[in-house]
Amino acid sequence: MKSTCDKLKIIGGHASQNLAAKVAKLLRCDLLEIEFKRFPDGEAYTRVLGEIAGEIAIIQSTPSDGEYIHLLQLIDACEGARITAVIPYFGYARQDRRFQQGEAVSARAMARALEVNRIFTINIHSKKVLQFFKCPAYDLNAAPLLGEYLSKVIENPVLIAPDEGAIKLAETVAGKFDLEYDYLEKKRLSAEKVEIKSKKLSVEGREIVLIDDIVSTGGTILEAAKLLKLQGAREVYVACVHGVLAGGALSKLYSAGVKEVISTDTLEKTPGAVSVAPLIANAMRDLSL
Ligand code: R5P
Repeated sequence: MKSTCDKLKIIGGHASQNLAAKVAKLLRCDLLEIEFKRFPDGEAYTRVLGEIAGEIAIIQSTPSDGEYIHLLQLIDACEGARITAVIPYFGYARQDRRFQQGEAVSARAMARALEVNRIFTINIHSKKVLQFFKCPAYDLNAAPLLGEYLSKVIENPVLIAPDEGAIKLAETVAGKFDLEYDYLEKKRLSAEKVEIKSKKLSVEGREIVLIDDIVSTGGTILEAAKLLKLQGAREVYVACVHGVLAGGALSKLYSAGVKEVISTDTLEKTPGAVSVAPLIANAMRDLSL
């Protein structure tokens, strides 16, 4: 096993401090302290305390513009070191192409500005974004961790992707845990009538887990959860990699009867039942700089 851990130092950005501490513990390497504050005019101030040299891994999700700027500041503060940026949730990844003339490809703009030696993301919304980075970029897959957790806490669940786009994720979550999975298919019956139901499996009386990579406003999942309840599902759980949970998404889901919202800890504000720390630690061990 290659190990860089004796010389590697970890920095936990403002948005990923718990996760960074967990990774540092697993790798048994130093966690550098950071100072973060805002000036009266709103500008952010970032300082890394301790010796900055050798190999540094900066762990920082970017769910907002402020967190992205903080990542830029951390990278700049580590000038001279060999830097791995671990960005568990990479914001703007959904803006990966130009839909209308004159639009910014925002994911590309965000990716291009990161001057580091290597990047890790986790279940990035669009793999296309990996090509926008100016250094080698690897997307780690948290699906097996979610699958392992779900197979332990829910008896005989059926994993349902809310649309065809999420079927691949449902398949990889089901993976080696032998879980059943399916997706919701929209069929137009007439100009006025649309039927939405699971493609192959019956949900009646079953414990359903709706799976998506991101739950943001909860809109996508909410409609699916209501429908599955109407179709006789016994319980509906929601599981995702990135619990963005904007605004009142959580209460919207719970008040619609969702039993539990399960996510990883790529974002700290969510009830991250499944930690991606081992995934990051293993990647750091296996792919030394
Ligand atoms: C979309 O392509 C994603 O996979 C998610 O389905 C989407 O981002 C969820 O967003 P929201 O929770 O706002 O419906």
